[in-house]
Amino acid sequence: MSETAKLVYGDKSLEMKVTRGSEDELGVEIGALRAKTGLITLDPGFMNTGSCQSAVTFIDGDKGILRYRGYSIEELAEKSSFLEVSHLLLEGELPTKAQLDTFTSRVKLHTMLHEDVKRFYKGFPKDAHPMAVLSAVCGALSTFYQDSLDIDDPAQVDISTVRLIAKFPTMAACSYKHSIGQPFLYPVNAHDYTSNFLHMMFATPCEGYEVSPVVSKALDLLLILHADHEQNCSTSTVRLVGSSQANLFASISAGVNALWGPLHGGANQAVIEMLDQIESEGLDGRKYLERCKDRNDTTRLMGFGHRVYKNFDPRAKIIKKACGEVLGQLKKQSRLLDIAAELEEVALKDDYFVSRKLYPNVDFYSGIIYKAIGIPVNMFTVLFAMGRLPGWIAHWKEMHKDPATKIGRPRQVYTGATERKYTPIAERK
Ligand code: SDX
Repeated sequence: MSETAKLVYGDKSLEMKVTRGSEDELGVEIGALRAKTGLITLDPGFMNTGSCQSAVTFIDGDKGILRYRGYSIEELAEKSSFLEVSHLLLEGELPTKAQLDTFTSRVKLHTMLHEDVKRFYKGFPKDAHPMAVLSAVCGALSTFYQDSLDIDDPAQVDISTVRLIAKFPTMAACSYKHSIGQPFLYPVNAHDYTSNFLHMMFATPCEGYEVSPVVSKALDLLLILHADHEQNCSTSTVRLVGSSQANLFASISAGVNALWGPLHGGANQAVIEMLDQIESEGLDGRKYLERCKDRNDTTRLMGFGHRVYKNFDPRAKIIKKACGEVLGQLKKQSRLLDIAAELEEVALKDDYFVSRKLYPNVDFYSGIIYKAIGIPVNMFTVLFAMGRLPGWIAHWKEMHKDPATKIGRPRQVYTGATERKYTPIAERK
């Protein structure tokens, strides 16, 4: 017998069905609320509002649990690869060897950009932010693949998925090459996914680039850790844009823009800028934290806090451990890592952070690895987007398969002027 919840308002009452998820999360179904009671819900930031039922990713924010399709992030980080995790998110199951080989070779066949797409880059200023370039070029791809925009044709959705996953590294590397005035490199498909990206970023026509296995593995790990995170801001954006039946390229381009914000994916760049500022100005970490606590100061401890995790972000734990390993293997030191660790240690003993359950999130340490492997700071969020791409597409596909899906169109409570007559300009004061 299904559970229900009852709402009473004045002389009206409504019995609502309560849906229990596979991990015992409960959602009250309010579909009849306005018709039966005249009420709507009001929930800025959707703090208490579920937009959908989803089988892609599970997060338990109180226990610090993250699972993609039921597999723990810890196991996937240790045992899987980014393309295998992409297949898992997109298809719902870990691939067999044959399936992974097929997926990998299909991706390899689509890593090149149409030669005319490259001309877009020439139009951008050298100092254009690569997230602006990525979203623009991603949207523009729909003009090159007009034969595969039909959201209801599984074959067209499939080829668009492969094209996006294959081309994002090439698109990213081209934005970097444009910014430094170097020629674009073609992908070399003998490389694996992350090695190909590193080659396109750091090789030149006159100098090869020896891809370090340590670096390509660290990058693969970071892509796995960023691959999905249920209904975060950018994924919700992809779902909302997709709900209007906009094509996949347009929906993903919107997700890139949402991710760019410093409160979301842009935080990884903001963290390194914060650590650089503390180091270059010789700031006292404790004093910096006092500014982060001061309501009159807009400074925030970037990379700390999370809407869902009220315990450690499991990804931050994995990345912090990987920082030490990668720096050790590369025989590099990082003063920024020391500063970050000091900030974390002090913050986790400070009541302001403890009482608000603010812990390091995925962005707090990730930039230290990106920096150690030579990625420019303004490319950090682009790498977040590269990782999140399979998650965005998995949610977009799930949304279109869900019979409950309708175009997303929230209501509001109007607080503006009540009706008034037009005043001729001569009579206005
Ligand atoms: C990502 O949703 C996802 O899953 C996102 C993500 C993913 O994988 O997709 O995990 C990736 O976006 C991680 C978050 C990256 N952003 C940052 O690191 C930016 C710094 N963090 C914050 O701005 C904040 O913690 C958010 C945006 C992450 C969450 O904000 P919420 O849930 O809206 O919480 P809030 O802003 O209402 O904060 C609650 C309180 C407030 O204080 P009071 O009003 O209670 O006095 O905590 C304070 C905030 O001022 N607070 C912080 C803080 N984060 C929250 N104070 C100082 N420094 C911070 N970082």
